[in-house]
Amino acid sequence: MPDLILPGLIDVHTHLRVPGGEHKEDFATGTAAALAGGVTMVLAMPNTNPPLTTPDALAAALRAAAAGARCDVGLYAGASREDVTHLSGLAGQAVALKIYLNDTFGKLRVDDLPTLAACFQAWPRERVIALHAERQSVAVAIGLAAVYDRPVHIVHVSRREEIELIADAKGRGLPVTCEVSPHHLFLSAADAARLGPLGDMRPVLGTAEDVAALWAHLLGGTVDCIATDHAPHTLDEKRGPNPPPGVPGLETSLPLMLTAVADGRLPVERLTALMHDNPRRIFGLRAQPDTRVEVDMTPWTIPATGWQTKCDWTPFAGLTAGGRVRRVVLRGQIVYEDGAVLAAPGSGQVINGAGLERD
Ligand code: NCD
Ligand code: ZN
Repeated sequence: MPDLILPGLIDVHTHLRVPGGEHKEDFATGTAAALAGGVTMVLAMPNTNPPLTTPDALAAALRAAAAGARCDVGLYAGASREDVTHLSGLAGQAVALKIYLNDTFGKLRVDDLPTLAACFQAWPRERVIALHAERQSVAVAIGLAAVYDRPVHIVHVSRREEIELIADAKGRGLPVTCEVSPHHLFLSAADAARLGPLGDMRPVLGTAEDVAALWAHLLGGTVDCIATDHAPHTLDEKRGPNPPPGVPGLETSLPLMLTAVADGRLPVERLTALMHDNPRRIFGLRAQPDTRVEVDMTPWTIPATGWQTKCDWTPFAGLTAGGRVRRVVLRGQIVYEDGAVLAAPGSGQVINGAGLERD
C-alpha cells in the first residue's frame, strides 16, 4: 500500500523548449520528467525560438506536442508588440496568455502600455492572463486586473514585498492569483553563492526573509499554486561564458514539498490544493479520470544526476526529500513505476482553448 495517494499533479509553468531548444528538452523528455515527478498535466511556456506568438508557430508546437507528449500538455500563447494583432487568433489554440513584464531567458518582453492594453482587450475575458512580474511590476499586474476586472495570475512570486502586495490585493477582492516555485522555497541567496550559475534563475533566489514570507503566505493561503518553472538548460550552457537563467524542477517539486508534509508543516489537503485543485480551477482545466499518484514517504537524498529531463542535473542535489513517486496512473494506465517511464511519446493529450471548462 502506498503511504499517500494524490491526484495527478498539474504544473502550470513548464518550459519544454520546442521549437528551437530541443537540445535542452523536448516534449518526450520533458513529459517523461513530469510523470517521474507525479505531474500528469503541464502548461508549457511560449518563450521558445521562434516564440509562440503567431498562429503558425503555435500550430506547429501543438503538432510536436501531439507527437511527443507522454502526459497532457497545454500551451501558452506569448504576447509581443509585433504580433499583438494575432492574439485573438491564438486563443483557440492556447490555454492561456503569458506576458513577460520583466527580462528573462528569450526575447519575449512587453514594456509598452499600448501593447499591454491591447492584450487585455483582445484576450478572451474568461481566460487567464499570466504575468511574469517582479518588484513594482507586481503593482502593474494588479492594476491591470483591477482596471479590466478580469483574472490575472502572477507567476513565480519570489519576494516578500511582492507576496505582501498580492495578499493586500486579494484582501480587497481583486481577481489576482499567484504561484510560487520550489526553488524559492527550498533555496536562498546563500545557496546561490554556493551553486553559481546552477543556482541562477529569474527571479533570482531570495533572502532568508523572502523565503520565510513565501512559506507564511503559502501556509496562510495567499499562494494559490506550486509551479515548477522547470527551465532546463544544459550543463555546458550553464558552465559556459553566458549562462542562461533557469533550473529544472519537474522531478523534484513534489518530493521537496513532501518534506514539508513529513515535517508536519504542510497538511496533505493544502498540498493537493496547491498542486492540483487550484491550478485546475484557475485555468479551467478538465479533470483527468482514473488518474492518481502513489507516494512512498521514506526520506531520500536528491542525487546530482540520473534524471529523465534531457539536461540531467538539479540545483537541489544533496537536499533531503520527504517522499518519492512510486507509481503514476493516467486514465487507467500505469505510466510511471519505480523509476521507469512507461508511457509512449504521443500518448498524452493536447489541451487547446476549446478543451477548457469554465464554472
Ligand atoms: C526561464 C527559461 O529559461 O525559459 N528562466 C528562468 O530563469 N526562470 C524563463 C522564465 O520563466 O522567466
Ligand atoms: Zn518560466
